[in-house]
Amino acid sequence: MGGVGFAVSGRRGDDPTQYPGKLTWYVVMTLMAAAMGGLIFGYDIGISGGVTSMAPFLEKFFPSVYHNQMDDTSTNQYCKFDSQILTLFTSSLYLAALVASFFASTMTKKFGRRKSMMFGGLIFLVGAIINAAAVHISMLIIGRVLLGIGVGFANQSVPLYLSEMSPYNYRGTFNVCFQLMITIGILVANLFNYFFAKIEGGWGWRLSLGLAGVPAIIIIISSFFLSDTPNSLVDRGREEEAKTLLKRIRGVENIDAEFNDILAARNDARLVQNPWQNIFRSRCYRPQLVMSILIPFFQQLTGINVIMFYAPVLFKTIGFGSDASLMSAVITGVINVLATCVSIGFADRWGRRTLFLEGGVQMLIFQIAVAALIGAKFGVTGDVTELPKWFAILVVICICFYVAGFAWSWGPLGWLYPSEIFSLEIRSAGQSVNVAVNMFFTFLVAQVFLGMLCTMKFGLFIFFAFFVVLMTLFCYFFMPETKNIPIEEMTRVWRDHWFWKRFMDQPVTGANEMTRIELV
Ligand code: BGC
Repeated sequence: MGGVGFAVSGRRGDDPTQYPGKLTWYVVMTLMAAAMGGLIFGYDIGISGGVTSMAPFLEKFFPSVYHNQMDDTSTNQYCKFDSQILTLFTSSLYLAALVASFFASTMTKKFGRRKSMMFGGLIFLVGAIINAAAVHISMLIIGRVLLGIGVGFANQSVPLYLSEMSPYNYRGTFNVCFQLMITIGILVANLFNYFFAKIEGGWGWRLSLGLAGVPAIIIIISSFFLSDTPNSLVDRGREEEAKTLLKRIRGVENIDAEFNDILAARNDARLVQNPWQNIFRSRCYRPQLVMSILIPFFQQLTGINVIMFYAPVLFKTIGFGSDASLMSAVITGVINVLATCVSIGFADRWGRRTLFLEGGVQMLIFQIAVAALIGAKFGVTGDVTELPKWFAILVVICICFYVAGFAWSWGPLGWLYPSEIFSLEIRSAGQSVNVAVNMFFTFLVAQVFLGMLCTMKFGLFIFFAFFVVLMTLFCYFFMPETKNIPIEEMTRVWRDHWFWKRFMDQPVTGANEMTRIELV
């Protein structure tokens, strides 16, 4: 027996209920403020689909797309909106976020989680201002890139902040608040688009893009008042400060057990010189690495962003008018917010696995239903001129069930699970891998969806359903339960797992087991 697993769980026995403490108002307020970081991400997801369906916006920045749509007399609904330039406007943000998440890793580790959030908010604010003032497509793209950098920093630092700051038995609840803010951001963006599209003079898109600055200001202001996490303070040698903070956030004097675990994790972390080299080379990090790649990959391959980005376009494709399309996007947005609350209530009670598995099955059923409905009506030619009302309503209902399945499973847990499984020494690097993979596949889905709809037709929904089957099986066999396990004790879930335990018998490169045991 050896390696990280032994050392970590050996610190104070295997009973996680030994951390005393209560849920203080201070920690609740702090966590709510930090979760606001999700707003900027959500607002971006929701805003671009609606803006790109506003005619004055298209006419100004994408005249060729605008004229093509005007002149299009074909009845093939599947291919109506296929334009690479237009999708690049949506997806460029995610490429920028991908690159930024790697820089954010260093900043988050060296200067703390709070500074990364603040920096992300600032860059995001500049991006929003440039976008609102855009007179040329280059300003739009520069603005989008800055927004992407902001999202990269926020998504790298906020989930870590929430997972480290929360009491371990409320970690699910508070981390899911990040997702709740994402969904609120999406919904608000959809509502704004709905109203701003009606503004006379056709400049409503400026408001849609510019109001992204509001969540940015909220984050900047709240990060001034946030304290850093005890884990990050200890990691940066500020132990006394961390102790005082821990007493304050847990509301008790006796924080020794938790503090000693953080200290021991920090001492383990010091044995690791280069987190990047370690996460990729050391066998004992293999389970964590696999999760940091596969979870965001699977989250995006649920196909959720087809709905989030293109709901208005998709609803138009199946024959809704402009107004009805934007309204249906608002309906799915409301379901997204409400269903996320289920996860807030149950992630720590039922556990992550139950939600992952139930959500997977639910998404699968309703994706197949949507494929069957669209296939039955549009066939492979996509030639349809009129659709009955009952059909449209049925499609929207199925999409709502699918969105709800995602919203209480892979949506929130896709951010929660990776943020709680990394050991301190690779936590920041691991989270960057998670964000980068997520952003890459968000980019890819955004970029290729309209083209895929044109070629794969209703089969596109079957394509995503296939991945939902894979991810549900993966979860069943390979994802251990993490609820109620203190974050600095997490290594034991791998050590106890039928498959991953084979990777846990070697110490971290350069680590010395004696040093670890002495820390107990
Ligand atoms: C995902 C986003 C998605 C959103 C929908 C998030 O967890 O990362 O890509 O658009 O959920 O609510």
